[in-house]
Amino acid sequence: MGEARSIRNVYAVILAGGSGRRMNTPTPKQFMMLGGAPVWIHSARKLLGNARVSQLWIGANGDWFDLARQQAEEYMGSGRVMLCEGGADREETLLNTLNAICGHNNVGPDDIVLIHDSVRPFLTGRIIDDVIREMAFCDACNTVVPVNDTVVQSADGKTICGMPVRSELFAGQSPQGFRLQTLLEAFRGLSPAERKQLTETTKVCFMKEISIHIVRGEFFNFKITTPYDWRVAETMLDLLGQ
Ligand code: CTP
Repeated sequence: MGEARSIRNVYAVILAGGSGRRMNTPTPKQFMMLGGAPVWIHSARKLLGNARVSQLWIGANGDWFDLARQQAEEYMGSGRVMLCEGGADREETLLNTLNAICGHNNVGPDDIVLIHDSVRPFLTGRIIDDVIREMAFCDACNTVVPVNDTVVQSADGKTICGMPVRSELFAGQSPQGFRLQTLLEAFRGLSPAERKQLTETTKVCFMKEISIHIVRGEFFNFKITTPYDWRVAETMLDLLGQ
C-alpha cells in the first residue's frame, strides 16, 4: 500500500435522475415509499450519518424536483440536501451534479466525492467508511461483490465464446469514490465516441488509465431495478425490522 494522501472534504451525490422504465410505475422508483421512507432517503440518511460527509447532493429530473425537495425537507430536515438538475443518462446527471458542487464550493485536489445510486437503499455505514478510508490511497474506488455463479460469455446469445475465471470476477455496486477534480478532468478528456461507450462511472477512469481500487460491498446492497427487486426489498425491510 502506498503512502496515505490527505482528504479534506467529502461530498456525497445521490443519482436520482432516472425514470425507472423497467419498474414501470407512474412515480420513479427512487421516490416511492419503501417502509417508512422514500427509497432514496434510506441511503441519504446513511451518507449524512457519516461525520466525514459535509454535503449531500441529489441529481433529479426537473419533473420530479418538487417531490424530491419536499421529501428532502420532510425526511431529512430543511437545508440538509442540495438539489441539482439531472441529465439524459446516469453519467450526465452525475456530471451536472459535479459541476454544481464545484460551482458552490472551492474544490481542491484533496476533496473526494462518493457517488451512490438512489435505488440502493441498503447501503451500510461500514461500506461508506471503507470507501472513504480507501480513497486515501487512490483516485478512484468501486464497491464490489464477488460473483458466485459461473459467468459465461456469449456474443450471439446462442453459444458460449468465453468462460472468464470466476475468482477474478466481481459485480460493481455503489458508492463509488473519486478525487473530484480527477474525475472531472477524466470526463472532460473523453472524445464524443468514448463518451457514448460510457455505461458506468468507473469506466471513465479505466479509459483514462487511472487505477481503480475496490472495496467489499454486500449482496444486499442491490439495485432495485424491476418489480421483482421491489418485492425482495420489502422482504429485506421486514427481515431487518425497519
Ligand atoms: N439515473 C440518473 N439519471 C438518469 C438515469 C439514471 O441519475 N438520467 C440514476 C437512477 O435514478 C438510478 C441509477 O442512475 O439511481 C441507476 O439507474 P437504473 O436503475 O438503471 O435507473 P433508471 O434509469 O431509472 O431505470 P431504467 O433503466 O429501468 O429506466
